[in-house]
Amino acid sequence: MPKVLLTGSTGYIGSHTVVALLEAGYQVVGVDNYSRSKPAIADRIREIAQKDYHQYQADLTRKEELAKVLEQEGDISCVIHFAAFKAVGESTQHPLFYFQNNLVGQMNLMKACEEYGIPGMVFSSSCTVYGNPEQTQVTEDSPLLETESPYGRTKAVGEALLRDWVLSGTPARTAGQRVVALRYFNPVGAHPSGRLGECTVGVPDNLVPYITQTAMGLRKQLTVFGNDYPTRDGTCLRDYIHVCDIAQAHVDAVRYLDQNAAPAGPWSVFNLGTGVGQTVLEMIQAFESVNHLHLNWNFGPRRPGDVVAVYANNQRAARDLGWKIQYSLEDMMRTAWAWEQNQASDPVL
Ligand code: UFG
Repeated sequence: MPKVLLTGSTGYIGSHTVVALLEAGYQVVGVDNYSRSKPAIADRIREIAQKDYHQYQADLTRKEELAKVLEQEGDISCVIHFAAFKAVGESTQHPLFYFQNNLVGQMNLMKACEEYGIPGMVFSSSCTVYGNPEQTQVTEDSPLLETESPYGRTKAVGEALLRDWVLSGTPARTAGQRVVALRYFNPVGAHPSGRLGECTVGVPDNLVPYITQTAMGLRKQLTVFGNDYPTRDGTCLRDYIHVCDIAQAHVDAVRYLDQNAAPAGPWSVFNLGTGVGQTVLEMIQAFESVNHLHLNWNFGPRRPGDVVAVYANNQRAARDLGWKIQYSLEDMMRTAWAWEQNQASDPVL
């Protein structure tokens, strides 16, 4: 089986993807600088998959650290690039920090792909590239609008760099280089084992970790940001998707890069969402009814920069990657809560 390199392999989506790749029989090499994750997550991955893989500490912004891993491993057919900072609020406070980490890291990885002859790359992009869309259901061909944060900018620019690289790079050595960009909508939930999930640092920015921490008593109350949006109940609408479905799409994308005779050329983009939007109030109701809990919440003012409503048209991923969604909204809420409880009793240290 081909060997796949994952950057950010102990992060939220990365760790679930390592499990999915191991279960699909791939050889996996993981690198992470552990700035937003923990080495012990690698042990959880091995425990769940019942398989071993090679895990390294390396920071992509230091070229030599990546080179060391590639010298040692050799023969990698595809890299999945997760390693990036992703907190929207933090990025507005520290834009250069985000540009340095996300874009310099990506550039070093692209150069390494040329140098070490790694032909395939899967890139973690985001629905943030659609900005605040006029048509709330977006296809991959919907216009890319101004993003609201430096974080979003790193995804939009990251995509543009990769596209230019594989489409207009003339040197022979970039020939054959192919990239799949996956635009994630709102990944939530955790591994069904309860042993793997998102390790939130400090106060969560995102809705579902805030819900589970409130239910756990770690936060007093959830504030719903805004109740006067032009949606069915006045709260924002998003396309929440289970992290294991996102992970599976990466396995499908690796297979696509491997086998596919390039009908779509060296650059392809796919939306990863369920195709169904949920409002914030619907998410709260789902959490309460699935887990038989009452959540303490109230309405607060709008959060600056929030998109009103966006959800995916996911037909291209279904058609070209053969991607099938396996997890329901109930699964998202059940596994998110199981993970929060597991973290309380047996935290990843
Ligand atoms: N929300 C609340 N209260 C909270 C947290 C969130 O009401 O305490 C609301 C938000 O206002 C929003 C919805 O829940 O309406 C979802 O918010 P998240 O922060 O969970 O997700 P976002 O859609 O804002 O952000 C996500 C990713 C970003 C990415 C963005 C692209 O976290 O990385 O999608 O649109 F850039």
